[in-house]
Amino acid sequence: MLIGTAVRPAQLSEAAYAATLGRDFNMVEPEDALKWEVVHPERQSFNFLPGDQIVDFASRHGMKVRGHTLVWHRQMPTWLTEGKFTSSELAEILEQHIKTVAGHYRGKIFAWDVINEAYDELQPGRLRSTIWRDQPGIGLVGSGSSYIERCFRWAHEADPQALLFYNEAGAETMNPKSDAIYAMVRDFRQRGVPIDGVGFQMHIAKLHADVASISANIHRFTALGVQVHITEMDVALPVDPNGNPRPEDLQRQADIYREIATACLSHPGCTAIQTWGFTDKYSWIGSHSKQTQGAALPFDRNYRAKPAYEALRKALEAGR
Ligand code: XIL
Repeated sequence: MLIGTAVRPAQLSEAAYAATLGRDFNMVEPEDALKWEVVHPERQSFNFLPGDQIVDFASRHGMKVRGHTLVWHRQMPTWLTEGKFTSSELAEILEQHIKTVAGHYRGKIFAWDVINEAYDELQPGRLRSTIWRDQPGIGLVGSGSSYIERCFRWAHEADPQALLFYNEAGAETMNPKSDAIYAMVRDFRQRGVPIDGVGFQMHIAKLHADVASISANIHRFTALGVQVHITEMDVALPVDPNGNPRPEDLQRQADIYREIATACLSHPGCTAIQTWGFTDKYSWIGSHSKQTQGAALPFDRNYRAKPAYEALRKALEAGR
């Protein structure tokens, strides 16, 4: 079983960070280092240094690396968003980006989030409007998931061995978004579009997870023959102005981690559980919630294991 976490290259030189990471995980994923704004800061230049630091750490510690993410609508550089490119220029830029980045990490990154969050939040089951799809898009607007298909084919050309994933938020349960993704993945599999897996982010808020529905959803995707990875799990808790959660919430949080891990482990096709960071010292939840939420990860700010860590450990020891 792959147990992964998102990592930040700047923290790798911090002894407690590196020690915890190397001890408890066998997979890492760059949290931001492979997003366009970091890896492709100018049209003609790529910056692989932060990503390479993570890959080096992983290879020294015998860990696998997941890549995140070749195509997204966020954290894009202004040369791209303000470039007023035509459809054919955008297609050329995107193909070059995918082939350069996936090519650089060929043999080093075993699985890629090719596309992240392509489905809309507000219109269930509809593709989101993004620069890639329709502003002006890579020339396939109005043709459903064709632009996504094209990206998977480019990624496969760049690294035929890498497992290619579609990653999504809010599609963990049976719902209109996961229904649409299911239909897309089934179609891709039937037509031989190279897709190997689906990532469910699993950012959990309000201490609520519909585990029965999550389990049914994992079941239907793995039945299509694709793998499922839990890619970005965290369980945000309400925190006081000092960042401290209520003790009873830590217990409920542990239950949710255990239930999700158990749901994954009960499906042979669910092959990875990854958290979005591992220490509460470094988590996107604080800034994302204006510091009203936090304490979302298995280790506290001092790298002490929380009840969530023990719960995950027990679920993993119980095995499949
Ligand atoms: C977040 C990172 O954790 C932050 O450091 C960054 O400022 C914003 O993005 N879904 C995703 C991730 O797929 O890439 C996001 O990561 C969190 C939500």
